[in-house]
Amino acid sequence: MTKPGDKVLDYNFSDRCKNLEGNAIREIFKLISQPDIISFAGGMPASQALPKDEMRVILNSLLASDIATSLLQYGATEGYVPFLKEGAKYVEKVGIKIKDLSEILAISGGQQGIDLTFKAFINKGDRILVEAPTYVAVPHIAKTYEAELIGVQSDDDGINLEDLEKMILEHNPKLLYIVPTFSNPTGRTIDVEKRKKIAEITAKHNVIVLEDNPYGELRYSGECLPSIKSFDNKGNVIYLTSFSKTISPGMRVGLAVASEKVIRKLTIGKQATDVHTTTLFQAATTEFLKQGLLKEILDKNIPLYKVKLDTMLKALAMYFPSSAKWTHPEGGLFIWVTFPKTIDVAGEIFREAINRKVAYVAGNSSFVDGSGRNCLRLNFSNATETDIMKGIKILGDLLKEKLEGVC
Ligand SMILES: Cc1ncc(COP(=O)(O)O)c(C=O)c1O
Repeated sequence: MTKPGDKVLDYNFSDRCKNLEGNAIREIFKLISQPDIISFAGGMPASQALPKDEMRVILNSLLASDIATSLLQYGATEGYVPFLKEGAKYVEKVGIKIKDLSEILAISGGQQGIDLTFKAFINKGDRILVEAPTYVAVPHIAKTYEAELIGVQSDDDGINLEDLEKMILEHNPKLLYIVPTFSNPTGRTIDVEKRKKIAEITAKHNVIVLEDNPYGELRYSGECLPSIKSFDNKGNVIYLTSFSKTISPGMRVGLAVASEKVIRKLTIGKQATDVHTTTLFQAATTEFLKQGLLKEILDKNIPLYKVKLDTMLKALAMYFPSSAKWTHPEGGLFIWVTFPKTIDVAGEIFREAINRKVAYVAGNSSFVDGSGRNCLRLNFSNATETDIMKGIKILGDLLKEKLEGVC
């Protein structure tokens, strides 16, 4: 331990890390850890949605079985084969046909899939296109690989195709990162025709697509849609999914699907990062899939989340200023609220909301150009219905107070 007066080393951090700031939402978590705060800030499943009883039975049975010690031993970086086989069947639901297990990799959550993809493809100064707004962790990960991020305009129906092609021609990007289903942060979903066009446009210009789908199973209305990957004829789409939002984020299990060559590079990157995803939880996830338990817990949790979403939509209509507009998602965990450009919800209003014990994520952390201070992201999965009504009223009253004369 250092004592006052000790001369502490002036750390010579790498150029990559020197100017890195923490992911904005991780920082907010510190602020909102007080127990009496109503948080619409995180992106966590509800505590009562986490399948602790099912997990206990599965883990007990795995650890009592004759494969127990192999599950506690080092495993292959590629993944636990029964998990990869179940995973290959699982992604058929979004139209992905895997010919060989060399096209699929077990990853330690979707976040690792983003990191490994950037590690495999990005040189210093390479450009990455992202939706504006995008998932807040992506700028953070991209900075560690010294990429330049460029936002592509997003409309009510997701990424704007004209702007996508324009940005590709102008910036010659290596990669497009996109969350086409129940996007974080907007909750928006891109329709099938647009998915086909995204596959076409990016294939034409040799742009890699990183399609991130952690929320697709949390659908409260409408039909399941085919992935962009299902329209990939050129091998330029990498598909990520995760069991964090459906089973448990704490177990850190997800899947990446791509051409064999890409999976090989991601695997080599993963060897250096964490050797392999925890085999015990890959095996547990295999059982959730094989025994139909994932479907069972979704059948239980989806109505629970739908009630929370409907409650928040109702509360917004009752309490938010008339100048606000918000998305009406068919699934996922977020609602995105937009105010007129003159309104800043990232500064004083945010601090005052925390003082009044309500938290949200201000929109600017999701835009690569620092815009979006007039937007906010609300998570509806974690608070009780009573707290949703109460918290949205507190926020609505605060916004109306501050915006008087503006809205
Ligand atoms: C769009 C998106 N991608 C990836 C992740 C990371 O999830 P995981 O827990 O699977 O790493 C999240 C988590 O919030 C997310 O919203």
